[in-house]
Amino acid sequence: MVGAGGVGRAVAHRLHERGIEVGLLHHPHQRVEAAFPCWSEMESIPFAEVEGAFLCVKDSQIRSVAERLSSYLPSEAVVIHTAGSVPLSVLSGIFGERCGVVYPLQSFIQGQAVEWGSFPIFWEGHPQARLWAVALAQREESVYEASSEARLRLHIGAVFTANFLNALFQMAHTVVGPEWDWRIYLPLARTIISRLHENSPLLLQTGPARRGDVATVAKHLAYLAHRHPDLGEIYQKVSAYIQQHF
Ligand SMILES: NC(=O)c1ccc[n+]([C@@H]2O[C@H](COP(=O)([O-])OP(=O)(O)OC[C@H]3O[C@@H](n4cnc5c(N)ncnc54)[C@H](OP(=O)(O)O)[C@@H]3O)[C@@H](O)[C@H]2O)c1
Repeated sequence: MVGAGGVGRAVAHRLHERGIEVGLLHHPHQRVEAAFPCWSEMESIPFAEVEGAFLCVKDSQIRSVAERLSSYLPSEAVVIHTAGSVPLSVLSGIFGERCGVVYPLQSFIQGQAVEWGSFPIFWEGHPQARLWAVALAQREESVYEASSEARLRLHIGAVFTANFLNALFQMAHTVVGPEWDWRIYLPLARTIISRLHENSPLLLQTGPARRGDVATVAKHLAYLAHRHPDLGEIYQKVSAYIQQHF
């Protein structure tokens, strides 16, 4: 495993837990507590024993780390990256057919527990990528094959449903603070998410934009324009989207 960030640590611990021999390459300034070998120098890795490498580094670092690793790895090793928006061709240009992708559709934060098996994992390329994805999920039903183009779309969707959702909570927090904070909305959010298990978002939308309560939307926009103009622009764009699509 290369990279001791959220994904590298989580994947390394999970594969170790599943009985796969793992080692983790991290930067010298990073502390990693693990029951498997960890190295802070690439030169310390016993490469003759390496059957595969997971590049769990930032998307922009994948190509350069892959190029550096290629001079050390045995020719039969399979090299994997875990990014949604990096095409397989970034690795196949270096490793030919001995490469793949394992993309877990989940948000990883260093030190936080991961509920493996509760979210989908997408794979592409060498069949070993599928085997590692199944080892991580421990169930074949949540493992899917996806092309680089499909994975790009999956990642864009994840930005909307995870990163934007989180940012929306911060926006609400900005509006209601300092008396209240984002937690005041958690029961409401729980209701919205639980309904989505049963029905399509198109059928579930409520609120002033959906109802066509123009005066209420205008009142909200006037308030935001005065106090939080950046949030006003987002409110206006999303309300226009709701009016057009729902
Ligand atoms: N986080 C998520 O929720 C998530 C979900 C699905 C997929 N992914 C994908 O998983 C990959 C990793 O994401 P992440 O969030 O775990 O990134 P991250 O937290 O930034 O961790 C990457 C780590 O790799 C280190 N690194 C870079 N080059 C290295 C090298 N040569 N040797 C040792 N360590 C090196 C980085 O150090 P520096 O910071 O010092 O460069 C950093 O600590 C990305 O491709 C991302 O798209 C992430």
